[in-house]
Amino acid sequence: MSSQKNYIEQNKERFVEELFDLLRIPSISADSAYKNDVLKTAEAVANSLKKAGAEAVEICETPGYPIVYGERILDPNLPTVLVYGHYDVQPPDPMELWTTKPFDPVIRKTDKHPDGAIFARGACDDKGQMFMHVKALEVMTQTNTLACNVKFMIEGEEEVGSENLGWFVKRNKEKLAADVILISDTGMIANDTPSITTGLRGLSYVEVKVTGPNRDLHSGLYGGAVANPINVLSKMIASLQDDNLHITIPGFYADVQELSEVEREAMAEAPFNLDHYKKALDLSDVHGELGYSTPERASIRPTLDVNGIWGGYTGEGAKTVIPSWAKAKISMRLVPHQDPEKITQLFKEHFESIAPKSVKVEVTPHHGGLPYVSPTDNPGYKAASKAMEESFGKTPVPVRSGGSIPIVALFEQELGLKSILMGFGLDSDAIHSPNEHYGLFNYYKGIETIPLFFKHFAQEM
Ligand code: BES
Ligand code: MN
Ligand code: MN
Repeated sequence: MSSQKNYIEQNKERFVEELFDLLRIPSISADSAYKNDVLKTAEAVANSLKKAGAEAVEICETPGYPIVYGERILDPNLPTVLVYGHYDVQPPDPMELWTTKPFDPVIRKTDKHPDGAIFARGACDDKGQMFMHVKALEVMTQTNTLACNVKFMIEGEEEVGSENLGWFVKRNKEKLAADVILISDTGMIANDTPSITTGLRGLSYVEVKVTGPNRDLHSGLYGGAVANPINVLSKMIASLQDDNLHITIPGFYADVQELSEVEREAMAEAPFNLDHYKKALDLSDVHGELGYSTPERASIRPTLDVNGIWGGYTGEGAKTVIPSWAKAKISMRLVPHQDPEKITQLFKEHFESIAPKSVKVEVTPHHGGLPYVSPTDNPGYKAASKAMEESFGKTPVPVRSGGSIPIVALFEQELGLKSILMGFGLDSDAIHSPNEHYGLFNYYKGIETIPLFFKHFAQEM
């Protein structure tokens, strides 16, 4: 057994306990009630970095939540790996659907994780995956095997759009100088089918409000004679897709990068089982754009989804009312080379143009993000591929993901660096959902694979 594997074996229980401590702090960036907890988490991450062997550890203030920085520079002639991750988490609601409390981590077995999985908000996204890098640094420091210089940049606002990370990166280009960025904040196909993420979708996110009468009205006295904002909004939303589930906003597809037949065939080779997919979600059928497979719909095609819709009376019993207004939150996942700002503008113009005169419409843009694709012929990808091959005993498959990490495109723009998305989560790990979890196998495999990435990256450069 290698000294690294041996060290992991000797310390594996402690590695889990330390992650538990981090998971107990509810670092919900979206909810200002948790501000102190988010700040406490930044401190905990900084301390864990110091203990793992990082130097120059700093909690860097920003206009929002701080960024934790740390580094270990062995030799300026060695290549440098910049590790990115986030210590903030999504809100846990709906609370009643959690089997155990979201901030009280426990280990339970699942079908996909027969060796056990850690159940807690952030277990997979991204505390568990980010902490693998901290523990990997400890492993490399303690076994004297660190093969590259390393820098850490762990942020606390990923789940709310990373606005201040852009601010930080623009002001700290020299500090962040590196040869590659390594991120574990994505997934892989299965525990026996490793994969590396080669693309992320972008995002355009808007909130819409449709206003009818200046107050709620009796639905008997006024019903039928004035616009009902909920009816109108529903119809407007429904019209945004045609019967083939193609998005109807003019110009929406203008910049979409179409894949060649060869690329689509290569994609179709990644293992995917539609029956298992449907079964896992209790669906009798899937639903999506005509002419594309399920994996394609969920990665290389843009989407439009309502994330929430509300208005009128939703309490107990019945209240006969025509609401004054209705609102919805709508996200559009974008693919290369769609531009989020342009798409938001197209959405706004179209949405306003389809509104009947009987209502007023407001469109408010939220955060957006650029899509990302990474090539497979660079030293970073090759190092990740060799590292996973060594730890899993199988060559990983390149896969484009449907999720978004908007800051990755900005890293490329501002720092000129490619990001390697070597994630170890599974789609079934329920990130952003109740009962989020992360396999112990995945946690340990990540800690084992990351030092191998460093080793191979030093050789590739
Ligand atoms: N880690 C996820 C993104 C992800 C997960 C990408 C799995 C690929 C596979 C990240 O924390 C996230 O949730 N991103 C948000 C975007 C952000 C702007 C809120 C998303 O994708 O919804
Ligand atoms: Mn994440
Ligand atoms: Mn997330």
